[in-house]
Amino acid sequence: MTVDKWILDNTAQVNTTYKPKAHFSAPIGWINDPNGFVYYKGEYHLFYQFHPYSAKWGPMHWGHAKSQDLVNWTHLPVALTPDQPYDKGGCFSGTALVQGDKLILMYTGVSEKEGQACQVQCIAESTDGLHFEKSPHNPVIDERHVKNTADFRDPKIFMRENKYYSLVASTEEGIGNVLLFESDDLADWRFKSTFLTAKPHQGRIWECPDLFELDGKDILIVSPIAFAPDGYRYTNVNSSVYFVGKVDWATYTFIPESYDEIDSGLDFYAPQTLVDDKKRRLLIAWQQMWGRTMPTDELGHRWAGSMVIPRELRLVDGKLTQSVVSEFHEKLKLSSSQIVKDRYKGPVTLYTQIETKEAFSIEIGSASDSLEFTYDGAVLTIDRTKLTRQIQGEETYSSVRKKEYSSEKLVVRLYVDESCCEIIVNDEVAFSTTFYLETETPEIKITGAELKVTTYS
Ligand code: FRU
Repeated sequence: MTVDKWILDNTAQVNTTYKPKAHFSAPIGWINDPNGFVYYKGEYHLFYQFHPYSAKWGPMHWGHAKSQDLVNWTHLPVALTPDQPYDKGGCFSGTALVQGDKLILMYTGVSEKEGQACQVQCIAESTDGLHFEKSPHNPVIDERHVKNTADFRDPKIFMRENKYYSLVASTEEGIGNVLLFESDDLADWRFKSTFLTAKPHQGRIWECPDLFELDGKDILIVSPIAFAPDGYRYTNVNSSVYFVGKVDWATYTFIPESYDEIDSGLDFYAPQTLVDDKKRRLLIAWQQMWGRTMPTDELGHRWAGSMVIPRELRLVDGKLTQSVVSEFHEKLKLSSSQIVKDRYKGPVTLYTQIETKEAFSIEIGSASDSLEFTYDGAVLTIDRTKLTRQIQGEETYSSVRKKEYSSEKLVVRLYVDESCCEIIVNDEVAFSTTFYLETETPEIKITGAELKVTTYS
């Protein structure tokens, strides 16, 4: 039976209680990283790490969906299955490149050699955005190019001056780095440079690199494992970090000027970006985290994982700003807004805005089962410790995340969508978090401010 037939036959078994409506999730099974996020022939394509057969990570496929508005997604046949000797352990993360009519995917093939993981880089192509052919030259980057293929993954493919380039995550003596490769024809690749190496505290491998220009600077995004906590920052074992700087194309290296984490919440990892026909730089990320218990799996709901709502990025005074794409407001069936002074009862599929100069707190759920977000005038805090259904993680920190922040006025946007919550403050600070309420009739309690609530269906 093909994987697509299996998905079709089994999707009716999925329990959708916690399934988000405006956040992307797969029809069934486990998802992690977004892959090959790209604008192709007038549509947005999203591929993703996918294990359809259970709500746990397993041999990775590339799931596939497309959208015209980044809000309503159409599920498409699975794009890549682990069916070749070089990828039978999984088709790991990668990226896409549009070349005229062609959609090129570059991904990591995983297999086992002498009891060790062997990670190699591979190409697949399509001309209809639906069927993908793996290259006969696969694997195109492997042990001929590097010594360490045990941790060597997540190629970011791009073009520059008629040559193909690929940035690949690697590690040396327990310290993450990003290696750059070059090719004229996608088949023959040569090692070009070590593009950037982590400082010892910046993580042992930099997964899922991305590179793009934004408002006059070059931005390198990586997802480091074990970036050392620094005050309230980098307190998840897996962080997502952006470096602002410049690529020196004479030496093929990245010269960083500053860096910071992208999202301050509990669930945000492996972001990827695209540029669309409106020249917007848009980011999507897995709204989950490694090493955590997964409530929808524990409950036997047969699905796990979602993506954040795509965000538009800008660089303002050297800092990344993020706002949910305008299509969210234009394309969803939104109700008219109502002002709420202390308590809102109703479905927790809603968009809410708070404008304030003062401290405030907002609680979603009930007195004994809630997600809480507060501002005390100096620090923003998201607190998941008051939920009945706790999510266990490998972090030494409890499920509270904080960010120092001060501003004359706060515009706080909350996107609450069943088990997904994203909070974006002044387009400058984002908290992405999941929560699974057991309370049957949740409500929102607000103190210190008013809420402007808009629901959607
Ligand atoms: C990041 C990651 C990637 C890898 C993929 C496997 O979350 O660990 O490095 O390619 O997930 O599913």
